[in-house]
Amino acid sequence: MIPDSFIQELLSRIDIVDVVERHVALKKAGANYSACCPFHSEKTPSFTVSPSKQFYHCFGCGANGSAIGFVMQYSGLGFIEAVEDLAGNAGLQVPQQIEARRQDAARKAPLTEFMARAAKYYRDQLKASPRAIAYLKGRGLSGEIAARFGMGYAPEGWQNLEQVFSDYQAKELAECGLVIDGEQGRRYDRFRDRIMFPILDQRANVIGFGGRVLDKGEPKYLNSPETPLFEKGRELYGLPQARQAIRDSDTAIVVEGYMDVVALAQHGIANAVATLGTATTAFHLNKLMRQSERVVFCFDGDNAGRKAAWRALEASLEQLGDNKSVGFLFLPPEHDPDSFVREQGAPALQKLANHPTTLTEFLLRELQGQVDLSSAEGRSRLIHEAKPLLLKIAAPLLRLQLTKQLAVISGFSQAEVEAQCGLKPIIPPGRSAPPRNIRRPQARSIEHRLLENVLHSPERAARLPLELIAGDHPEGAALRAIAAAIDRGALSTGGIGQLLEHFRGSEHESMLAQFAAALTADEFDEAAMEEEFNDALERLRHTGLTQKISDLSQKERAGGLTSEERQHLAALLAQKTTAAAAGRRDK
Ligand code: UTP
Ligand code: MN
Repeated sequence: MIPDSFIQELLSRIDIVDVVERHVALKKAGANYSACCPFHSEKTPSFTVSPSKQFYHCFGCGANGSAIGFVMQYSGLGFIEAVEDLAGNAGLQVPQQIEARRQDAARKAPLTEFMARAAKYYRDQLKASPRAIAYLKGRGLSGEIAARFGMGYAPEGWQNLEQVFSDYQAKELAECGLVIDGEQGRRYDRFRDRIMFPILDQRANVIGFGGRVLDKGEPKYLNSPETPLFEKGRELYGLPQARQAIRDSDTAIVVEGYMDVVALAQHGIANAVATLGTATTAFHLNKLMRQSERVVFCFDGDNAGRKAAWRALEASLEQLGDNKSVGFLFLPPEHDPDSFVREQGAPALQKLANHPTTLTEFLLRELQGQVDLSSAEGRSRLIHEAKPLLLKIAAPLLRLQLTKQLAVISGFSQAEVEAQCGLKPIIPPGRSAPPRNIRRPQARSIEHRLLENVLHSPERAARLPLELIAGDHPEGAALRAIAAAIDRGALSTGGIGQLLEHFRGSEHESMLAQFAAALTADEFDEAAMEEEFNDALERLRHTGLTQKISDLSQKERAGGLTSEERQHLAALLAQKTTAAAAGRRDK
């Protein structure tokens, strides 16, 4: 955990405009800056950066956040990495809590250096090997693409790396998986006579290699072992090269093989990445979903590909949001993406990728294939099989859709499916608690309006009459928490960016993020927002007053009031009359 005080200090030292400007050309527009959104494709700018709020927001796609959020979303870094990145740029000392990670990074740095030197050696060897060049040419690859992916060649021979590393016995060489220590303590190169595919991390450091035999041989691909740098289930081959294209197309294509990624890039389909001989994991999806709206799995057309697709579906269920989609593209059984694009061309593949089988279609098709829908047993079994999947789906609307379809297919009612699967009927967002007070009038509660407003200028929370805001529903609880944070001085410079970071990881995070994503251009008008805030406060006080008067009046009818209560009631009534008169005067 990084202490919140450090995050707040970091945010007060940096300017989000500088941070964004490192990657996106901004134009001044009034008090704010604007640009075409880097997170979705558009022709007219709807991406806004507000220096006063230290916040970016796209009115087109809803992307938003603080400077930290921007670095995470733009560079695909995790929270801690983003903080480290910004702290480094701002010349801030990283506090103790992340010292451990720093030590970890310090331990990795020499390994990274070893890997970089090996990669360079393999690249140079490729240039010197007509046989390796001929192999790649034979597979339709240009020199340009080979260079783009840093491809290389590990020549024949057992100790070639001795030419690169003066100390061939260095422990780091074994630690990063470049050499193997044999039985008699004899050390030799892991990769020999193989085409080398370097695997890069998000910062484009080489963390591992995949090596392919040129002719027949086992194994076809030899991969780096798991090392301090390289954890297979977390990495995706080709991600740094694909990042821009993923962002531009808002789509990431996931394939199975190194060669598939490279061949697709060769044919101009640059937004493909590959899992590294492992099943798709939640880490993979999480990484991709941070950077694109759509993930399309394109696996081989054979049985194994189908199985891989099903496992990808299972991993997707928990990662899905209603604004994200997952699709599946099934190639003819004899093809993989590499052979398909070479035989049929990029437009044919693009066409398939534009209309993939949806997650719902795939899921229903597979489940229906397992049961006999003509029998009552089969229809019941369908729901039985669907239950664990439904329960995993994180996207409420998608789950609802799927529930409805399952109901139709199985002949149960939607309510029966929900009950059998232990699903709660969905409550629309923003109304997660039932209204406590039936007199609360409009659909958007006062607390909802206040919260929208406070997000814009968190310091307004200090003016909230907390005795009138109940904490037993999400908006009220968030308002109280913001007010408390202001009171404690935990939010010093104001601005929604800082506020979002303060509540990252708290129970309020997801609701605040929903609110932040729904901000409209009007809400950037400070004067209008101040008026709206005062208006909402007025309504809140009025409702509170009316409620108290009604409670006391009821008690009076039921059994009478103490003299103190009677005085209180009289005072409240007088207050209400004054307020009403003031209201009339204002009109
Ligand atoms: P494939 O066997 O489908 O190979 O393995 P491919 O991608 O079509 O490769 P080419 O076209 O024959 O060159 C898919 C992925 O599975 C992993 C690799 O990551 C590979 O890219 N794999 C496969 C291994 O790790 N080891 C192997 O021996 C084979
Ligand atoms: Mn292949």
